[in-house]
Amino acid sequence: MAGTIEAEKQTAAEAAVLHVVDGMVVGLGTGSTADFAIRKLGERVAAGLTIRGVPTSRRSEELARRLGIPLVTLQDVEQIDLTIDGADEIDPESLALIKGQGGALVREKLVAVASKQVIIVADSSKIVERLGGRHPVPVEVLRYGWHVPARRIRSLGGAPILRTDASGMPFVTDNDNYILDVAFGLIARPEQLSEALKSITGVVDHGLFIGIADRVLVATGDDIREYLSPDH
Ligand code: A5P
Repeated sequence: MAGTIEAEKQTAAEAAVLHVVDGMVVGLGTGSTADFAIRKLGERVAAGLTIRGVPTSRRSEELARRLGIPLVTLQDVEQIDLTIDGADEIDPESLALIKGQGGALVREKLVAVASKQVIIVADSSKIVERLGGRHPVPVEVLRYGWHVPARRIRSLGGAPILRTDASGMPFVTDNDNYILDVAFGLIARPEQLSEALKSITGVVDHGLFIGIADRVLVATGDDIREYLSPDH
C-alpha cells in the first residue's frame, strides 16, 4: 500500500512539472510529494531547462541546491509564475486545502499567494468530502505568549496541541515560531474559520488554504485526475 501511495505522489508531481517551461520562476513546495516535483525539476535543469526556484522551506532549499536548481528568494522576484506543492486534505469541489503537516505553511502560503498559478499535487488519499476529519489545522504562533492565542483558539471550538519534535521539545519552524495542531473535527465553514484564526493576535498564519489552488492533480494508480478551481 505504502508503495502505491509513493508511486501516486510521484505520478502527480511529475505531471505538474510538465507545466514548467523555460524562463519560469517556480515556487518549490515542501513535503514528500513536493520533493518528487523538485527531483523531476532537477532532472530537467540538468538536461538544459532554465528556471529559477523559490523554496518554501530550508528542507526544499537544500534538496533543490543539491540538484543544481538555481535559487532566488521571494524578495528577489516580482512574481512567481508557477508553484507546485502538496497538501494534507483537499476538498475537490472548492479546492480548499489543509496544509502544514510538514511545518512550512507560512512560507508555503506566502509563496503561493505571490504566484500566478498554483498546482497542488497529491496521492488519492488526500481527497476528502469535508476538511478537518483526518488532520488538525496547523496554526503557526509566536513563541512569546503562545498560550494566549491557544486559549482564543479553544474558544473557537478547537483543541490545540503544541507540536513537538522527535525529542519531545517544541517544534520550531523556519520562522522561529511554534505550531499548534488544532483539531476541529469536520469543518462546516472553512472560510469563516480561516478568518477567525487569522484575526487572533499571536497567530502568524494557519494551514487552511482557501481560494489559493488553481489546479489539483491527484493520482490514483497510474491515472491522474485534474480538478480546476471554480474561479479558473
Ligand atoms: C508542508 O508543510 C505541507 O504543507 C505539505 O505540503 C503537506 O503536509 C503534504 O505533505 P506530503 O506531500 O508529505 O504528504
